[in-house]
Amino acid sequence: MRITPSILNADFAHLGGEIGRIPSCDLVHVDVMDNHFVPNLTIGLPVVEAIRSSTDKMLDIHLMINDPDRWAPAYAEAGAESVTFHIEAAHAPVRLARELRSKGARAGIGLKPATAVEQYEGILGEVDMILLMTVEPGFGGQKFLDLVLPKIAAARRMVSASGLDIWIQVDGGVSVETIERCAEAGADTFVAGSAVYRADDPDVMVNQLRDLAAAGFARCGH
Ligand code: DX5
Ligand code: ZN
Repeated sequence: MRITPSILNADFAHLGGEIGRIPSCDLVHVDVMDNHFVPNLTIGLPVVEAIRSSTDKMLDIHLMINDPDRWAPAYAEAGAESVTFHIEAAHAPVRLARELRSKGARAGIGLKPATAVEQYEGILGEVDMILLMTVEPGFGGQKFLDLVLPKIAAARRMVSASGLDIWIQVDGGVSVETIERCAEAGADTFVAGSAVYRADDPDVMVNQLRDLAAAGFARCGH
């Protein structure tokens, strides 16, 4: 079970220190938004490069941007271990995933809540992670959408049938209340933003979430 806290709800004026508060995390999830693909604007490549030079933690970049074909490879070149682009925004997702891998990054595809996962079965061999949004992307602190749970289970069935080692990540409204359900459905990688950074001790929360996820995943039937 991997916990990948989102720094979207951290103090942007002190990002290095904020990442230092979560030493137990598996990867640091960084939300890049362009105010076109989503109605919010966050950070871009220069800030990701600054984060890269301030931490040895693995970086999990979540690009909520139009035209990732043009912009995503630079995040892999900047040294991010994982780069996820939204499949709804990509013009040539197979080519882009191959380019990310060729630059040494894991390639992830992100799906909004209304995007079906079954149609991507044929390209599973091209990706290292499927990110299933459990809120509409754009903001932290939103309510978890239960309607995504069957899609998590469908993704888990597809991945199991493929025999490939593909991470299934959930993002949005993941907390002590919802993480077990996600894991039980088949998720193994969990973004948590407000749940971690609004906790009294973010690192204690990371470990608590991981324990709950492991308990839920043990009940996952696939
Ligand atoms: C939302 C972002 C998330 C966000 C999650 O579009 O992709 O990563 O930070 O925040 P919470 O966990 O508060 O829903
Ligand atoms: Zn995210």
